[in-house]
Amino acid sequence: MQGHQTYYIYTFGCQANAADSEQLAAQLQQAGYTATLLPDEADLIVLNTCCVRESAERKIYGKIGELKKLKTADPNRIIGVAGCLAQKDKDKLFAKAPHLDFVMGTFTVGRLLENINKVKENREQVLSVWEQAEETQRLRPASLSGQISAWVPIMYGCNNFCTYCIVPYVRGRERSRPVTEIIQEIAALAKQGVKEVTLLGQNVNSYGKDGQANATFADLLREADKIKEIQRIRYMTSHPRDMNQQVVDVVRNSRSICEHFHLPVQSGNDRILQAMNRGYSINDYRTLVRSIRQAIPDSSLTTDLIVGFPGETDELFAQTLDFIREIRFDAAYTFLYSPRSGTPAATMPEQIPSLIKKQRLQLLMDVQNEISLQINRQLEGKIVEVLVEGPSKNDDSAFVGRTRTNKIVIWKHTGSEQAGELLSVQIDKAQTWVLKGKAVD
Ligand code: SAH
Ligand code: SF4
Ligand code: F3S
Repeated sequence: MQGHQTYYIYTFGCQANAADSEQLAAQLQQAGYTATLLPDEADLIVLNTCCVRESAERKIYGKIGELKKLKTADPNRIIGVAGCLAQKDKDKLFAKAPHLDFVMGTFTVGRLLENINKVKENREQVLSVWEQAEETQRLRPASLSGQISAWVPIMYGCNNFCTYCIVPYVRGRERSRPVTEIIQEIAALAKQGVKEVTLLGQNVNSYGKDGQANATFADLLREADKIKEIQRIRYMTSHPRDMNQQVVDVVRNSRSICEHFHLPVQSGNDRILQAMNRGYSINDYRTLVRSIRQAIPDSSLTTDLIVGFPGETDELFAQTLDFIREIRFDAAYTFLYSPRSGTPAATMPEQIPSLIKKQRLQLLMDVQNEISLQINRQLEGKIVEVLVEGPSKNDDSAFVGRTRTNKIVIWKHTGSEQAGELLSVQIDKAQTWVLKGKAVD
């Protein structure tokens, strides 16, 4: 039975989930499963899910429903759900989708094989959702060899309880991994040819504050920078409240830590920020940006913004527009506020009608896109250093890479450049989200 079993994993949501999917894949590979690119042919399907916004949930429930026909076609096929939506909806998933074989939460990522074996042995649905974290050894699947970028979780969970956000409820409290363990993992990745790592946490700047690491985030960055084969180090996400000068100084003085700051501001108005429980004011944010730009003038700055948070009037929203015009972000990820049941904001008065949220989102994107384009146009004619990622998805003759500032660059493949190599590209056409250019010697 065990010979040549294949698996397919759907990954939704953020990089925390992408890293968990690697962990799931690694366990399957240890047990002799091989990956398939075709879910219809897989013996095992796992959906690693997200519930940060209702739109994500809707999409995932749609996909779960669709998979019913695959279960009917082959009842021996195993289909399970993991991740944040599984954690949140543990009590209703089997009722909503009786064709599921297992539901496992975010605290039991290391127990995939155990769950599959239970399904096979007992021929019953398995629920494996805990409310507490357990130590899981980080595993990486062999199928990632040859990859040039890798995710490295440095901490799990979140303590911030922003009033709109479900993450602390489905991922638990902050747990930092020990420095030595993280550094060993990065060194091992470097040996396998990885050139770029992204350190992951919901709030990386509070790394070590749980007392489990004996180090701060700045200390960890300094250690990681010593691993010579790693060309670039990125990290996400930073919280504006916990970002500090120490980290900025480490970035400035380091060899490999990229000059890109992702600092989600969420709103340009103090009253809304306070209602969101973000813990900083617009002026704090301004001061932080000023100190970053003073220390590292060539750095890029990106953000996340939510429109339509309860109580956001036209006037307060206009202040967010003013604020993004003032700060001039390189790019912004913009979201419609989505009420998440169980979070404080979901029951706040003055919820904003959907139509108004959509109009505001459009206005916000229009303003930001114009700014992004203006900033990118300043790079036209310039030569940038790109870490080559590989062929473009849409165009075989084109290659894709990124600048240290995290801008996507596309150029015509000359035939010689290879993934993992650093390349100079002269930019000749800037767009809102990509730069186009040609390779130069
Ligand atoms: N820990 C990170 C990422 C959290 S999720 C951080 O604090 O930035 C990524 C983004 O999703 C958030 O920055 C926020 O902008 C958005 N988000 C989270 N919950 C949301 C909700 N209920 N509705 C709309 N956007 C939300
Ligand atoms: Fe959610 Fe706030 Fe934690 Fe980010 S910092 S995961 S937005 S609660
Ligand atoms: Fe989604 Fe969970 Fe990440 S809710 S955004 S996958 S932490």
